[in-house]
Amino acid sequence: MSTPPAYVPASPSAGDAQKTVLVHLEFSGTDYEADQAEFIELANSAKLNVVAVIGGHRDRPDASTYAGSGKVDEVAAVVAGSGAELVIFNHDLSPSQERNLEKRLHCRVINRAGLILDIFAQRARSHEGKLQVELARLNHMATRLVRGWTHLERQKGGIGLRGGPGETQLEIDRRLLRGRMGTLTKQLEVVKSRRAQNRNGRQRNEIPTVSLVGYTNAGKSTLFNALTGDDTFASNQLFATLDTTVRKVALPSGETAVLADTVGFIRDLPHDLIAAFRATLEESREAELLLHVIDASDPERNVRIAQVEDVLREIGAIDVPRLQVFNKIDLREGELPHVETDPEGIPQRVFLSARSGEGLALLRTAIAARLYPDLIEDDLVLPPQAAKLRAQLFQLQAVRAETIESDGSSRLSVRLPYSRLERLCREAGITPPARAVAVPPVAS
Ligand code: GTP
Repeated sequence: MSTPPAYVPASPSAGDAQKTVLVHLEFSGTDYEADQAEFIELANSAKLNVVAVIGGHRDRPDASTYAGSGKVDEVAAVVAGSGAELVIFNHDLSPSQERNLEKRLHCRVINRAGLILDIFAQRARSHEGKLQVELARLNHMATRLVRGWTHLERQKGGIGLRGGPGETQLEIDRRLLRGRMGTLTKQLEVVKSRRAQNRNGRQRNEIPTVSLVGYTNAGKSTLFNALTGDDTFASNQLFATLDTTVRKVALPSGETAVLADTVGFIRDLPHDLIAAFRATLEESREAELLLHVIDASDPERNVRIAQVEDVLREIGAIDVPRLQVFNKIDLREGELPHVETDPEGIPQRVFLSARSGEGLALLRTAIAARLYPDLIEDDLVLPPQAAKLRAQLFQLQAVRAETIESDGSSRLSVRLPYSRLERLCREAGITPPARAVAVPPVAS
């Protein structure tokens, strides 16, 4: 096994950004290089000025400083030499390890979860997202504060002081923290019930929800914009999306669906974050269809697919029907937009470029085929008194052509899900046509 580099000059100075040293240690059984690359990408996402990346091997974490004394000395020398103000460990440091490291390194030390929380805080866009991130950060802080307090308590006992200023301040902090967390939790409940009402409204109107999921940076926001014609923020940084954004999308069947963009998934998403975003992620669980967006140009795409599926399993969304969308085919030489189907002709994978727009039409058709497997094209003859049904069909944009017969009845060529046609006919007191052959799901 090759020794990982102990010191890697990293990204060039980023203006006034905080000077940061990254520490990433190798334990057996981990993919050191891929993990390190992702860590650097995360730090860049947080707009930090990474002045050094320090690597190393360990069999197991050191109880007191995680990295062990020799490695901490090495980090301390780099921190002192570079004037870094922040050290981030790509590991799960305990609060006491963070504290011990801060004492030894004379600067702020955070762990991977702290970094991801900071990024989430910078990026949250909706009211709900902001509340969720603040709550997650306070939660993260609370464990640290509580343990810090216990630690000081012990010290206080040792030197025989009671009710010292430190204790008072910590008690005030804890009370403020608890109060703020309580307020946030209440506000989130309100937002959550409003979202549930919206969802119920959609269900009443039978508008299916399609949720975009995918590894961060796969192109979900870009695809969302391309499909809905909206210009939401898309950037080449991890986690550009933090909230579900919901918009209508038109399908070639004349039907509409609601498209929801969700938080970017990432390997080892810290648990308190999954908990914080559970409400948002629930949108995915209750969707009729998930579009799993994959960066087709990423050599690690198969690993990413598995990681996203792990998160889906964790949030209870693994059984929701999925359509895989291989995005960014413009970066793959010779790759043309196409659809792969299962033996029954049901689309399973769509290859496209959200940026250039190639293959978007195929995706719309594939979504319609998955949402409305009973889509039919048929002729329907309506007597003049069925004017209401005729109007409803026009309103649904289900009518492709109309001819008026000599007896005043109208012959409509319609395209819509059979189940819906059947129901509308029944409501109008008209015998529905016998079920015709389904429209082939999609032409690839
Ligand atoms: P998170 O919000 O971090 O989860 O990211 P995301 O999955 O929403 O990705 P986003 O849409 O922000 O796109 C990430 C980067 O990929 C941006 O720089 C996009 O311009 C780029 N991108 C998206 N789609 C395509 C594509 O089809 N081709 C190419 N070449 N780049 C694309």
